Amino acid sequence: MLFPEGVTIDGLTGAVTPATGRYVKKLSALRDLYERPEQVDAYIAAHGDVDAYDVIEYRPDGSDICFGTTIMYPGRIGREYFLTRGHFHAKTDRGEIYYTQSGEGVLLLHSRSGETRSVAMTPGVCAFIPPEWAHRSVNTGPEKLVFVWMCGIDAGHDYGEVATRGMRDLVVEQDGRPAIVANPKYRV
Ligand code: F6R
Ligand code: ZN
Repeated sequence: MLFPEGVTIDGLTGAVTPATGRYVKKLSALRDLYERPEQVDAYIAAHGDVDAYDVIEYRPDGSDICFGTTIMYPGRIGREYFLTRGHFHAKTDRGEIYYTQSGEGVLLLHSRSGETRSVAMTPGVCAFIPPEWAHRSVNTGPEKLVFVWMCGIDAGHDYGEVATRGMRDLVVEQDGRPAIVANPKYRV
């Protein structure tokens, strides 16, 4: 039987208490998502294989819903920023909510039918991610970007399509500011 409980989320560190699981994603695991993967090699040669982001989950066995935090570290790779892998949900009728707690970033999205959108990730913004929209978070600020995500526990991840084709848009640094541009390497 499931029982209610209060879970504390620290909006600055992303700590979830109690949590049921967590993982860390190293920069090297994201190498081939960048437009110039050799710039990731150069970054790692200079700074080491740093943590790009952590995910902390509250995923109770037997529940229909789950939530957690993603803590993205700041960093730049060439003209791009530290980013998450990006995915569609494996279960195609499942959406998600991203509620930004601290830091600044951009949520990039594209639909199966080819439309693109972005949502500014600033504290207090709750992003609605409908089903069938690929989503990737990008930390464009100098601090950690911390957000809470909530979705159906069975939503799952389909990473394959974004890994092979890329996201349709990129967030790049232009004149000292983040700008959204079409991804020149997107595979139609
Ligand atoms: C779950 C979800 C987030 C991401 C997390 C890491 O559906 O969207 O919990 O999984 O922000 O991003 P990915 O999974 O794209 O590496
Ligand atoms: Zn998701």
